Amino acid sequence: MSTAEVGDDVFGEDPTVHRLQEFAAELLGQEAALFVPTGTMGNQIAIQIHTRPGQQVVGESRSHVFEWELGAISAFAGCQPLPVTGIKGHLTWEAIEAALNPPVYYRSQAGLIVLENTHNMAGGIIQSPEGMEEIIDGAHQRGIPVHLDGARVFHAAVALGCPVSHLTRPFDSVMVCLSKGLCAPAGSLLAGSRAFVEEAKRARKRMGGGMRQVGVLAAAGLVALEEMIGRLPEDHEKARRLAEGLADCVGLTIDLDGVQTNVVMATLQRSNSSAFVEFLREQGVLAVPTGAYEVRFVTHHDVSLDDIDQAVRVIREVLS
Ligand SMILES: Cc1ncc(COP(=O)(O)O)c(C=O)c1O
Repeated sequence: MSTAEVGDDVFGEDPTVHRLQEFAAELLGQEAALFVPTGTMGNQIAIQIHTRPGQQVVGESRSHVFEWELGAISAFAGCQPLPVTGIKGHLTWEAIEAALNPPVYYRSQAGLIVLENTHNMAGGIIQSPEGMEEIIDGAHQRGIPVHLDGARVFHAAVALGCPVSHLTRPFDSVMVCLSKGLCAPAGSLLAGSRAFVEEAKRARKRMGGGMRQVGVLAAAGLVALEEMIGRLPEDHEKARRLAEGLADCVGLTIDLDGVQTNVVMATLQRSNSSAFVEFLREQGVLAVPTGAYEVRFVTHHDVSLDDIDQAVRVIREVLS
């Protein structure tokens, strides 16, 4: 980062940003990519470009775009969410099609479908390429574009043992995060056709996301994409160890089949997740309460296997 070659990226003059964008587009099997400050901004730019005000945005009911983006779909794009509940986070075209309004002028029409891979709130579960393609085919037949919230799509790719482009190429647009598991301090990429990315550049500037000498961050993004993807299995191993270490705990349940990547969702017997997480924090274990009964643990580069064993001890102690 300290030796990154930089320029004014609003004028398209930052060579490190160009390198990152070109590398990402190639990796994702898309024509072009744009560096954006956050995953939320990437998703929201895509939603604004694909839709018109008054349309619906379809997604799994616990999607990030519905639960964690503060109503931006309505506030910025003027659209209404159409949440469809999946089975353990998995949607099917059949379920989506059943939720769509008939194509009559007096009912709101779906302007976009957003899929999430891995699905965060479903516990980091992996969406298969076949399942996603079935939805994309159905959507395209009805003229509906499909965006991928791929904040953690590299986790899905390494777990499936396939190139990430197998999971990202069929989409009309894709957002991926460089922070989170890939360890960059900040930054995400929004990829799609050249025309889409040109439009996205305008939307990014309008939302205040045009950054100047941002090659310092893009340099970290290049390390994320070039060096860190191959290390994600380490995080998956840690998540499995945590889940198995807690599997027989009294007071908490974990669906071991649902632990597929770096997320472990625990369901508490009592609705005290905030207090539980506070007790854990006092003992040096960090987690997030994601529902009255639900706590989310995430493993990453800065947590060692020994830390996991320590976390298991602390969680057991707090529960007892
Ligand atoms: C699935 C998913 N999409 C999008 C985002 C948004 O990323 P950011 O925090 O960079 O806005 C997150 C963040 O946690 C996420 O989990």
